[in-house]
Amino acid sequence: MYYSDDIVEEVRNRNDIVDVISGYVKLKKKGSTYFGLCPFHHEKSPSFSVNGQRQIFHCFGCGEGGNVFTFLMKYEHYSFPEAVQVLAERAGMSLPQAEYTPEEKQRAGLKAKLYEVNKEAALYYHHLLKSDKGVRAYEYLNGRGLKDETIVKFGLGYSSNYKDDLYRYLRGKGYQDEVLKESGLFVYRERGVYDKFNNRVMFPIMDINHKVIGFGGRVMGEGEPKYLNSPETALFDKSRNLYGMNYARTSRRGSLLICEGYMDVIALHQAGFDNAVASLGTAFTSRQCLLLKRYTDQVYLTYDSDGAGVKAALRALPMMKEAGLNTKVVNMRPYKDPDEFIKNEGGDAYEQRIEQARNGFLYEIDRLREQFNLQEPDGRTAFYRETAKRLLEFEDELERNVYLETVGKEYQIPEGDLRKMVNKLAYTYQGKERKQTADREPEETGGASEKRGKKQKESGIIQAQRILLTWILDEPELLKKLTGIISEDDFTEPLYRKTAGLLFWQIRNGEMNPAGIMDQFENEEEHREVSALFHMPLGEELSRSEKERALNETVLQIRKHSLDQQLRTVTDVKKMQEIIGQQQKLQTLHISL
Ligand code: UTP
Ligand code: MN
Repeated sequence: MYYSDDIVEEVRNRNDIVDVISGYVKLKKKGSTYFGLCPFHHEKSPSFSVNGQRQIFHCFGCGEGGNVFTFLMKYEHYSFPEAVQVLAERAGMSLPQAEYTPEEKQRAGLKAKLYEVNKEAALYYHHLLKSDKGVRAYEYLNGRGLKDETIVKFGLGYSSNYKDDLYRYLRGKGYQDEVLKESGLFVYRERGVYDKFNNRVMFPIMDINHKVIGFGGRVMGEGEPKYLNSPETALFDKSRNLYGMNYARTSRRGSLLICEGYMDVIALHQAGFDNAVASLGTAFTSRQCLLLKRYTDQVYLTYDSDGAGVKAALRALPMMKEAGLNTKVVNMRPYKDPDEFIKNEGGDAYEQRIEQARNGFLYEIDRLREQFNLQEPDGRTAFYRETAKRLLEFEDELERNVYLETVGKEYQIPEGDLRKMVNKLAYTYQGKERKQTADREPEETGGASEKRGKKQKESGIIQAQRILLTWILDEPELLKKLTGIISEDDFTEPLYRKTAGLLFWQIRNGEMNPAGIMDQFENEEEHREVSALFHMPLGEELSRSEKERALNETVLQIRKHSLDQQLRTVTDVKKMQEIIGQQQKLQTLHISL
C-alpha cells in the first residue's frame, strides 16, 4: 500500500459512502439500507444496496461490492492510490506525498510528461495553422464551413510538411527521446526520427478533463489514409474514450448523439448539438457503451447512411441494448453523414430528424426485412420466423408484448400468428438462447437466481460459517458468549477465517469497522465476497428460543467440522487426545442468550 493504513482509514472516515455514491446513483432509503439501480450491470429494479452504518455497498444482482474506495475504482477505473487521492481532495484533506515504488514513480512521471508533450504538440499544430505555413489548411477548414471559434474550441491545427518539424521543436524545448518515443507522435527509424503526422489537418483528441491524449490527422483533399490516428499509448486507450465527450458530458440535452467521424462531431457542435461524440476511428466497443451509460440513458446513432454505416449500427445496437441504453437511429438520407446533412439542410432540419429517429429494435427489423422477398410465401415465413426470434430476446414479457404488437402492425403480420410463432420458438430456442445469454448480466430476479445456481453449490458448512459471521456483525455482543467456544481458526473457509480474525479483533478493541476490513483484501473477487457477507440478510425475525437453537446448531456445526479437520491432519498423539476430548465436550455445548 502506498498510503499508510492510518491515512487510508482517515480518508475513508471522512467520506461517507452514502454521500459519495449518491453522486453517481440515485439512492432511496429503505430501513437502514439505501437501494438504487446498480451502475455495474443493467437492471430495472434496484438490487444495489449501500449500507451507511457499515460503509459498504453490495449488489445482489451482479455481486459487485466493496467500500468507498472499491466503488470509485470500479466506477471511475481509478487505481487504489488515485481513489484515495480523489476522496482526500473531496474531504479537503491534504495528503502526504505518496510513497511510490520506483517503477510507479517512473510511470507516473512518464504519464505527466506525455500529457505535457501532447499539449505542447497541440499548441504547436494550432500555432502552425494560424501561421503562413498553415494557410492552405486554414482554408481547407474554412471551406468545410468551420468558424474560427469552432477551430479554437476543438483546438484544430496543422502539421508541417517538413519531415521532423515537430520533433525538432519539442527537442528544442528540452524533451528527451525516452519520453518522445512513448508519445506516438514520432516514428523512430535507424536513419532518424520522423514526425508521424505530415501536412495534415490535426484534430487533438481530449479526455473528459480536456487533456490532450492523442491526435487524428486528415489529408487535405484526396489521399491515403484519409485519417491517420495516434497509436495507443500510456495515455491513449481508444476503447475508453470518445471524441467530443469532454464537451458532451456537460450538455443539457439529456441524450448523446453517436457519430462516426471527427468532422461530424465538430459540425454538430457548431450547429448547437453539443451532445455529439464519436468513437475514434475504430468500431464501437462495449466499454464505450458503459461510458455512455454513465452520462445518459438515451442515445441516437447517427452513423453514415452507406452500407458500412448500417453495418456499424447493426453491430452497435445489441451492445447498447445490453448496456441498458435506449437507442434510436437517425436517418440522414439522402446525405451521407451529419456533417453533410447540416451543411445542406441546417440544424433545424437535423433536429427534426432526431425527433423522427427510428427505434433501435425496429431499425434492426427494417434491415432484416430487406433481406427477404416478401412477395414469396417462403420469404415471408422466413422473415416472420426471424422476427419472432428477435422478439424472443426481450426477457421482459411486457416489453416483448409491446414490440410484438408494434411489429405486427407495422409489417402487417397478423398478431396472432406472430405470437404463436414466438411461443413456439420459445420452446425450441429456450435452451440455446439461455446458454448464450448466461454470461450476460442478470436482469430480473430469474436471472439472478440463475447466476446463483451457477455458482458452486455452497456446502452447508460454509453457509454456517457465513451465517455466524453475519450474526456477529449484527450483534457484536454475541462474541463474548462465544469466547472459549469458537475462534477464528474454526472458520475453515480461508476468506471467512481472515474476515473473522479481523472482525473479532475489531470488536474486542471496541471499534467495529467493516469497511476497514475490506481494505485488507486485495483482489476484486474478495471484495465482492466480503461485501456479500456483510450484506447478507438474516431472514425473518426469529423468536428468542428459535434464535438460541439456531445459534447453537450453527456453532456446533462449525466447531465439529473444524475439529474433524484437525483430527484428520494431526500427527501428535497427545494433540489427538486433546481434540477428541474437545469433540466429546461439544456434546454438551449450550450457549444461552
Ligand atoms: P469517414 O470516411 O466516414 O470520413 O470516416 P468522415 O468522418 O466523413 O470524414 P470527412 O468528412 O471526409 O473528413 C469516419 C471516421 O473514421 C475514421 C475517422 O475517425 C473518421 O472521422 N477514419 C476514417 C480513420 O480513422 N481513418 C481513415 O482512413 C478513415
Ligand atoms: Mn464526412
